[in-house]
Amino acid sequence: MIKQAIIPLAGQGTRLLPLTSVFAKELLPMNGKPGIEYIIEECIDAGIKEIVFIISKKKEMIKDYFYKDKFYQNIIKKKKDQRILNEYKKILKYRKMIKFVYQNKPLGTGDAVLKTRKYIKDKFFLMLLPDDLIIKKNCSKSMIKVHNQYKSSVMASMNVSKKTVSRWGIFKTKKKLNKKNFLIDAVIEKPSIKEAPSNKAVIGRYILPKKIFLKLKGQKKGKGGEIHITDTIQSLINEKEKFIGHSFSGKYLDCGIIGVLLTNLGTPEAPTAKALKPYLKQFLWDPRVVEVPRPIWWLILN
Ligand code: G1P
Repeated sequence: MIKQAIIPLAGQGTRLLPLTSVFAKELLPMNGKPGIEYIIEECIDAGIKEIVFIISKKKEMIKDYFYKDKFYQNIIKKKKDQRILNEYKKILKYRKMIKFVYQNKPLGTGDAVLKTRKYIKDKFFLMLLPDDLIIKKNCSKSMIKVHNQYKSSVMASMNVSKKTVSRWGIFKTKKKLNKKNFLIDAVIEKPSIKEAPSNKAVIGRYILPKKIFLKLKGQKKGKGGEIHITDTIQSLINEKEKFIGHSFSGKYLDCGIIGVLLTNLGTPEAPTAKALKPYLKQFLWDPRVVEVPRPIWWLILN
């Protein structure tokens, strides 16, 4: 049974500067609700009982979000507002399941995972990357089903355009198990088009074995000088650990990228947004991607 989840939240959010110099991007509202709440709800609905947040001193705002009791109590005393009361109850419910650990140096996802080591009790746990929102169908829940069936590690996968493979971890597949699942032969972090063994990308949902912590301790820095979980997964695969790729059916929304565009358009940083055009174009007609309002697509593509 998968009962514990971890969420790396210590990223600096450089793609979203200047906003992220004072604000945690995971608290940015997506359709009126902070992105992180979608991730928590996904966990709860998938049967997760405990979540470990990996934050940094610079992102204590995320912890504060769950510990503003006096603030709520004062307002609730003065105003009998049911909505505020419900929000407070929700925050209290979330807080009961969340533990915080710190990753003060931005050394990569692998390093973030290692920080949760003392909290993980069971043989397998779930990791969710908060930049990847998947809605309409609970991806974690489907992956847990796959895990229960095959008793193995599972990673979420989505087909991307060949041109954009260097933005993702990319799978080399071994064997199709059925329509939605395949055995993973290898996984390469952000390969060039030439190096990429497929166009199947890693999306931020992972069911990982506890034994990964032993490997992570000795993990060397990889691309960009960071410790990538992808590299550690590859060394486990080399030792015959079974990893399954799960092609999820929910709708995918890359918050990091949409955020970059929305914060950069019309600013001197706009060339960054322009460079992302080919990446975004592939999603224009992809039914899995959440509808982005037409005026925004117009801005992006013009
Ligand atoms: C991370 C992973 C990458 C994965 C991606 C999914 O990259 O390292 O393998 O494909 O998340 O969003 P990042 O987005 O942090 O650059």
